[in-house]
Amino acid sequence: MMDYLPLLIVGAIIGVLSGALILAYALVKDKKESMGFERNMKDGELMKRLLVYAKPYWLSFVIVGLVMLLSVSYNILSPILISDIERIIQQKGGFRYNDVLWRVIVYASILIVSLVGTYVQAIVLQKTGQKIISKLREDAFTHIESLSHAQLSKIPVGKLVTRVTNDTNAISMMFTGMLVNLIKNIFVILGVLVAMLFINYMLTLMVMCFVPFIVLFTVIFRKFSRRAYRQVKNGTTDINTYLSEHLSGMKIIQIFNREERQMEEFESKNEKLYRAERGQIFVFGIFRPVVYMLYISSVLCLFFLGSKGALDNREILGQIVDGATIVAFYMFISRFFNPIQNLAEQFHRLQSAFASAEKIFTIMDIQPDVVDEPDAIELEQIRGEIEFKDVWFAYNEGEWVLKGVSFHVNAKDTVAFVGATGSGKTTILSLICRNYDIQKGEILLDGINIRRIKISSLRRHFGQMLQDVFLFAGTVRSNIVLRDDFDDEAVTEACKYVNADKFIDRLPNGLDEEVRERGNNFSAGQRQLLSFARTIIHRPEVVILDEATANIDTETEVLIQDSLNKMMNIGTMLIVAHRLSTIQHADNIIVLSDGEIVEQGNHHELLRQKGRYYELYTLQFNKEQLRKKQA
Ligand SMILES: Nc1ncnc2c1ncn2[C@@H]1O[C@H](COP(=O)(O)OP(=O)(O)O)[C@@H](O)[C@H]1O
Ligand SMILES: [Mg+2]
Repeated sequence: MMDYLPLLIVGAIIGVLSGALILAYALVKDKKESMGFERNMKDGELMKRLLVYAKPYWLSFVIVGLVMLLSVSYNILSPILISDIERIIQQKGGFRYNDVLWRVIVYASILIVSLVGTYVQAIVLQKTGQKIISKLREDAFTHIESLSHAQLSKIPVGKLVTRVTNDTNAISMMFTGMLVNLIKNIFVILGVLVAMLFINYMLTLMVMCFVPFIVLFTVIFRKFSRRAYRQVKNGTTDINTYLSEHLSGMKIIQIFNREERQMEEFESKNEKLYRAERGQIFVFGIFRPVVYMLYISSVLCLFFLGSKGALDNREILGQIVDGATIVAFYMFISRFFNPIQNLAEQFHRLQSAFASAEKIFTIMDIQPDVVDEPDAIELEQIRGEIEFKDVWFAYNEGEWVLKGVSFHVNAKDTVAFVGATGSGKTTILSLICRNYDIQKGEILLDGINIRRIKISSLRRHFGQMLQDVFLFAGTVRSNIVLRDDFDDEAVTEACKYVNADKFIDRLPNGLDEEVRERGNNFSAGQRQLLSFARTIIHRPEVVILDEATANIDTETEVLIQDSLNKMMNIGTMLIVAHRLSTIQHADNIIVLSDGEIVEQGNHHELLRQKGRYYELYTLQFNKEQLRKKQA
């Protein structure tokens, strides 16, 4: 009995530790394990959809599989070879140098082959993984592009960005490492187990005694580590959201002198993140030594039992324990424990990759609600005649924004929409290009219902200049031509036509001047002129303009006014103008109130009617006069 005292001590220590960890596990209540959202798709179904992307690269995966077997066999063969060398050296009566030498050469060869294999595997996997993911990313983006305005405005932009970047990355990791490692680990565990049993099953039994504890510790650790990880993630997200919002709003914060208050808020968030990070380090700090201790204990037990067996020189079923056996087992133990420890983590990662896949596929499963009808037609040329027939439209069900709007625009005419903010002017303009589908009524282009026209074909004929001009980061030129090919001459001509040339000429780099994010290094008026040039160069048959209300300096205003007058001659023009003087020459002026047309006619007719338009006009006219007098 005394003989086995050391083993009892080791057992007692491990027992006490396990007890303590289990207690901690039971005491800490945790929310039900979750991926942060409800999973609906089955793993198998997700795998099937992912495999569609992997299928073209099956050959690469076969190569990787073969190479993986090489590295599995290295893991199993190397301890055997080394113990063999040990056995030869220990031989009674000396050993032959050559015997050792060729074994060393064999060892070195499998090592090199396995290393080269690992390299090849990494390269092939990375390449394939990236290809798969770039296809997936592309599909996701194309799909997002096909969604309607209404659908897009329901999903936060940040979420879409995460889907296309982070989530695809998680899946890419699954293809590039996780799956292969998972399979490799299973092979290594099985292979090492067989090899150990073959060499000495008594010692194998001893090693196996540690396995339940490794599993137990790993499971407990995973609970704590995931908890800590979640806290760190939440803290980081919290700070990121706070930062992105407050950095964009920094000007307002400074204007209102709120810096100190902001600092306090930020500090508390920062403190929370710091605590979370510290918690995570603590969890790892406990776990690593504990598992290492298990490993060391098993090695000690091996030395203890092994040397006892070797001294007794007992033979059971033809298996003897000698120095070589101990060496082999010493090496096998770590090769056995590591993959077991990793398996749990890899299963978890696989689960989160599936979760990412589900999130992406959920987006990709959203059916675009503004789509071409099966027999939609292509329109090569249009005249530009537009008609609304009793159009009813609501952004949200039941809240009618347009209530039975009907009007007719002759080809090449200019029609202006006038009305208070929120009366539905912008809405009418966006319905014509089918940014949204209407609920009741008909919109006709050249007498054809726009639902029967291919969307791409429809939009090609329209030049839309929206209320808030969006400039992309790039250059002035890239913002005018967008992705099409236009030579410099065409660009200059367009700029000249809309009077944008004056300010562009003054820029140090002219057309190549840098445009920063959202064009915030340009004034509102300049942005408007650029959007005019962008529209004109694409030669639309119907020009749609939602004039910005932003304050524009008098000089730019004159330029805009002039280019507006020119654009009225391009083709059909639908315009929302806030300065009524702009639209005096419009062929028809439609006055809206609360989603209904209250008056229409030309400037003089409407003035004669002395209705809403007359009121608005006199109000603006008097203001102008007052301003002029003051000036
Ligand atoms: N994307 C949207 N989702 C929901 N309601 C909207 C949306 N855009 C506009 N609305 C609502 O529709 C009405 C008309 O808006 P809009 O056409 O922009 O008016 P206007 O351009 O005449 O100022 C407003 O009451 C506005 O609140
Ligand atoms: Mg508007």
